[in-house]
Amino acid sequence: MIMKKAVITGATSGIGLGICRLLAERGYFVYGIGRSFDKMPVIGNFEAVRTDLKNREQLCREIKRIRNGVDVLVNCAGVGYFGLHEEISPEKIHEMTAVNLEAPMIITALMLRELKRSGGRIINISSVTAKGSSPHGAAYGALKAALTAFSESIFDEARKYGVRVSVIHPDMTDTDFYRNADFECDKNEEFCLSAEAVVRAVETVLNAPYPIRDITLSPQKHRIKRK
Ligand SMILES: NC(=O)c1ccc[n+]([C@@H]2O[C@H](COP(=O)([O-])OP(=O)(O)OC[C@H]3O[C@@H](n4cnc5c(N)ncnc54)[C@H](OP(=O)(O)O)[C@@H]3O)[C@@H](O)[C@H]2O)c1
Repeated sequence: MIMKKAVITGATSGIGLGICRLLAERGYFVYGIGRSFDKMPVIGNFEAVRTDLKNREQLCREIKRIRNGVDVLVNCAGVGYFGLHEEISPEKIHEMTAVNLEAPMIITALMLRELKRSGGRIINISSVTAKGSSPHGAAYGALKAALTAFSESIFDEARKYGVRVSVIHPDMTDTDFYRNADFECDKNEEFCLSAEAVVRAVETVLNAPYPIRDITLSPQKHRIKRK
């Protein structure tokens, strides 16, 4: 039997790890992209694709190697640096741009012909910060807004080929994402989403008999915790 193939960035932790598990359980062969697989639990039907998304040459080489016959692409990798914008260094702005926006655009460009052939799915993990103003996260929020705009355009460009593009906007989610920030999410489930909730949104998108263009997920109440 020929297995369906999925490529997932951000595979090594948090939301992306949960999406890898979901797709492997659903019978996909999963190519998971990330840098540090050492602490990752073993998943069946999984190949670790060790790639730094900031390294364009390495990324293109690996995508060309694995893209043949791909059915699902999930752009989940992300990095965030927060604070007053004048405190965000050019290096951090470059890193956020490469990981959060340039990599999804490059991977999509390199895979779109295959996805048109398979009538495939693209799921981009954006953020609620894409939807409004993000003081103390201006660059991150702007990049997520661009990822959302990109997703919407690619859906309209590729829909006639049977390709579905969905963008998911999670609010604060309980992962290690805020390791670089001076705040974190309040782990009380009223104030914070679980990674599992975002994985379930991906499952909803994959199960739907029609295209779901976007999903926004919020905890019931809003509160962040200073570290
Ligand atoms: N947690 C939240 O509150 C929240 C809310 C809204 C949206 N999001 C979005 O959700 C997505 C997943 O984040 P998460 O919460 O699961 O955080 P996470 O646990 O920190 O996961 C981030 C993932 O991105 C990968 N990554 C980062 N830089 C990379 C690079 N240079 N090259 C390759 N991979 C890289 C990491 O892998 P390696 O370190 O192994 O390379 C890791 O697998 C991100 O796009 C984030 O913006 C998160």
